Amino acid sequence: MDGRDLVRSVKAVGSTGAAQGWRTVRAAWRRRRADVAGLTPRGAERARVPGPVRDVEPGPGGGLMRFARSELRIVVTVSGAVFWGWDGAGPEPSYALAGSSPEPDQRAVLEPDKDGAWRVVAERVTVVVSRHGAVEVCTPGGVTLRHDLPPRWWEPVGGGAARWLQRSEVSADARFFGLGGRASGPRLRDGTYRLWNTDPGHAFGPGDDPLYITMPVQMVVADAGTHLMFHDSTWDGRVTLREGEEGAGSGHDRAGTSEVRMDGGPLRCWVMVGTPARVLHTWASLTGAPALPPAWALGHHHARWGFGSDQEVRRIVLGYHEHGLPLDAVHLDIDHYDEHQVFTVDGERFPKLPVIAEELRRDGIRLVSIVDPAVKAEPGNAVYDSGTVEDAFVRDSKGRLVRGVVWPGEAVYPDFTRARVRRWWGELYEERLAKGFAGFWHDMNEPVSFAAFGESTLPRSARHDMEGRGGDHREAHNVYALGMARAGYEGLRELTPLERPFIFSRSGWAGMQRYGGTWSGDVATGWPGLRASLSLVVGLGLCGVPYSGPDVGGFDGSPSPELYLRWFQLGAYLPLFRTHASLRAGRREPWEFGAEVLEHARVALVERRRLLPYFVTLAQLAHRTGAPYVRPVWWGAPEDRALRDCEDAFLLGEALLVAPVLDPGTGRRAVQLPRGRWYDTVTEQAYDGPAQVLLDAPLSRIPVLARAGAVIPVRGDDGGLELEVWAPARGRAGGGLVVPDSADGWDEPEIERYVTRWKKKRVVVELDGRDGLSEPSRPVRVRGLGRR
Ligand code: GLC
Repeated sequence: MDGRDLVRSVKAVGSTGAAQGWRTVRAAWRRRRADVAGLTPRGAERARVPGPVRDVEPGPGGGLMRFARSELRIVVTVSGAVFWGWDGAGPEPSYALAGSSPEPDQRAVLEPDKDGAWRVVAERVTVVVSRHGAVEVCTPGGVTLRHDLPPRWWEPVGGGAARWLQRSEVSADARFFGLGGRASGPRLRDGTYRLWNTDPGHAFGPGDDPLYITMPVQMVVADAGTHLMFHDSTWDGRVTLREGEEGAGSGHDRAGTSEVRMDGGPLRCWVMVGTPARVLHTWASLTGAPALPPAWALGHHHARWGFGSDQEVRRIVLGYHEHGLPLDAVHLDIDHYDEHQVFTVDGERFPKLPVIAEELRRDGIRLVSIVDPAVKAEPGNAVYDSGTVEDAFVRDSKGRLVRGVVWPGEAVYPDFTRARVRRWWGELYEERLAKGFAGFWHDMNEPVSFAAFGESTLPRSARHDMEGRGGDHREAHNVYALGMARAGYEGLRELTPLERPFIFSRSGWAGMQRYGGTWSGDVATGWPGLRASLSLVVGLGLCGVPYSGPDVGGFDGSPSPELYLRWFQLGAYLPLFRTHASLRAGRREPWEFGAEVLEHARVALVERRRLLPYFVTLAQLAHRTGAPYVRPVWWGAPEDRALRDCEDAFLLGEALLVAPVLDPGTGRRAVQLPRGRWYDTVTEQAYDGPAQVLLDAPLSRIPVLARAGAVIPVRGDDGGLELEVWAPARGRAGGGLVVPDSADGWDEPEIERYVTRWKKKRVVVELDGRDGLSEPSRPVRVRGLGRR
């Protein structure tokens, strides 16, 4: 323990109550001791590079190249994604892949290139491998998108996992995005980003990295094209990014660089090339279609750590009713558990839970329950006892249970990397369903063990099943929450086969969208936190996780009325729209900030409800195509550099551009418009892009623009689906997709395609169906006809 550790442990004892404080000190010591006993010190290491190529063996979709000290397998797959793996690594087993690896594309073959290099040519990408193992990813036109230098390994002389480094270059104009949920993005500037899911232990702002969801997924956007690069290793790692610089005049360009360093795991990757939409479609076909949330989950949620009683839940719901505010879900935090133990209810303070759940459901409001993975280590606790019978909990290298400290005190951790344990855990949701809960909020699943010093998670030496292969926490840590999400999702599918499960999880990894979404964690209340919360949603969307949103108002402290309102107005256009805050924070109900804020918040809520059919359509499209609801403004024009650098606005689907207010005292703001005509949805004033325009952003609203020609499904006054159509520019046409999904089951409703155009002096809207064009059966309202 060094001096800083000592200070932290004294603080831990002082601030969390003596008993819990001492537990965190003991837990930290235990963690340290376990790692000393359970992990072999790395000792001396030997460096290795592939060396010169010796022979090449063409195979399906590519082939195998043998180098002096390694070998490289390349496979172009029918999905359009290219796989390559060093040292004999294949695509499986993988926690990221949705099923087995896609089939090789038989048309692709390894063929000689110049200077002793070899190449494999696929439809959308050519991969060239030099005779020393440098790998170049090129467009079909031959422009280089990424140049990987030969990798380098460091192997412990005494045996054990090799560390590796992959250095890559991208063009001088390229921009990096992704790497999971990052607070300082969405554009990832120069710096080092760690790949280790982490609860920062305090409300975070843009300077905090890493956070709860990290992923070795880079989306790289350059003039020459867009590509997604995924390094499929779950181990701890670091990515150092440096944007390039274009030489002025006759000066040279400096390439952008990425250095991925991993503490272990295979060196294997997947690369996808194309438009952003194409790339994410391929990514979703590889790692799984985003789960479809039930329609109610696309409405407004209100959460609170510390409702304290079921009477308070009733009071809040009544408040929403009395103020005329739509509400779709209420979330109960750990304070409704019995002594903070998951899958229990404090019967004294929440005696009427199933009755209240039923009352709320009649009003169209669902109850959502927090679910923490750690189980109070106490015989007599039913979850602990049944888990013990199943041998469900993580053990150390000596076979003893690994104990940590979380809300219930000393706790043990289910090993979600074991199928049997996932099944056991999934069955536990039956208790939640019986209490009337309809959705689940997975938390503390990095996983967290409070520690007075050192890292707040399990010891690295903790053993995990890893689907029977055996391994330790160094490999299992980043996929712990992914396994928990799978357990919950599969359990719910068994328990309620007719309903779509609703799960959102604080932590996760590549592929987590198969089971649900996430939220932004404990974002700090303040203007920087507001900006960070948008960064997370955009960045996660580009990693294939389309459903997320922040704690509106921030997690800690008390937002000013202005900050609360601006957060609320942003949240109203994000997939998960939830107010939430800490036990110790100020109130977050819209009526707590004065009459003016209440009025404007009501407008935002009513508009969200009106747009619900549009959100339902976006959810369906995300499920079918992998395209996130919230997209960066460069989505349709990645070659537009001004758009690439725009981080304070986003596209919501094809039709809307949302420009939130992210700074105090703003009454007007600049908005970077993509090509085409755009209407301010309130004034109906038209603007032509590409351009930067100044728009009014009074306290009552944030600028939202509609694309000319768009067809937006909205909820009419009678609750039915209507089409809001924005006039195309004269002489132009437009259109939009609508997926009318009223049930929350598994039927796949058909997509309705609408087209719009001018006919003489009228805008006509037609359904483009199997039998050609026809008049829409839904009410249509054309807007944007007045002002040019
Ligand atoms: C964590 C969660 C937060 C929750 C709290 C208590 O801090 O991120 O959302 O309210 O734990 O359960």
